[in-house]
Amino acid sequence: MSRIALTRAVSASLVRCELTYLERAPIDLDRARQQHATYESLLTSLGWHIVRLPTLDDQPDAVFVEDAAIALDELAILAPMGAASRAGESLTVEEALSRFLPVKCLTPPATLDGGDVLRVGRRVFVGLSRRTNAAAVDQLRRLLDPYEYEVIPVSVSGALHLKSACSFVGGDTLLANTKWVDVRPFPGMTILPVEKSEAWGASVLFLEDHVVMASGFPRTAHALRVRDLSVEVIDLSELRKAEGGPTCLSILLPSPKGDGGSAPAV
Ligand code: GLY
Repeated sequence: MSRIALTRAVSASLVRCELTYLERAPIDLDRARQQHATYESLLTSLGWHIVRLPTLDDQPDAVFVEDAAIALDELAILAPMGAASRAGESLTVEEALSRFLPVKCLTPPATLDGGDVLRVGRRVFVGLSRRTNAAAVDQLRRLLDPYEYEVIPVSVSGALHLKSACSFVGGDTLLANTKWVDVRPFPGMTILPVEKSEAWGASVLFLEDHVVMASGFPRTAHALRVRDLSVEVIDLSELRKAEGGPTCLSILLPSPKGDGGSAPAV
């Protein structure tokens, strides 16, 4: 049975996206849409069934669906998003997720973007970033304690989200830009650092036996391939100009009960 990935089409207003660490550069909207279609096709070819959320043309960043929610095995969690301009994205994400999982919500003063949440087994690492605050960590900890998840804050600086700066790539390995993320909260994990020239290369989507990554990071791709990972490289140049990456273009749902699996490490 296919696993489900929630996605959303590129908005007509993408060129007015939020930017935090990048300078604004012209975005070719048609090309962004082609790149997004390629991403969806790749997930489909890897066994994921795409469920598209309604297009929100007046929400520039809506294609980056991951930021509106977290999907774990037992529940999904919505939170006030870290950028006020993105608040209009949440409702349709909540509606879609509630078809598959119980949904719980964090409340102000918490702000959290899903791009700041990296789950590895029963550990939920939460980036303290420009978008996600300590109140979100506290609320998440209270919410997830009964499910026996450990919630661990991680300092992020220089990158928008935790998963702009690091990604779980299987086994005990964390691909990381160690300038942007404090790796001390990951004891026992092997840190695979990206090279200085490939600062943005640490943001990859790990799908158990495949890694999806943006083009432009050949050394990082090589470092993953020599670890026997199957690396799928796609051009995401236009979406990267909007400070997006491979993880934030989808919300990956856990396996249906009885399928033997759990949510991928996201
Ligand atoms: N442009 C992506 C974001 O700022 O959320």
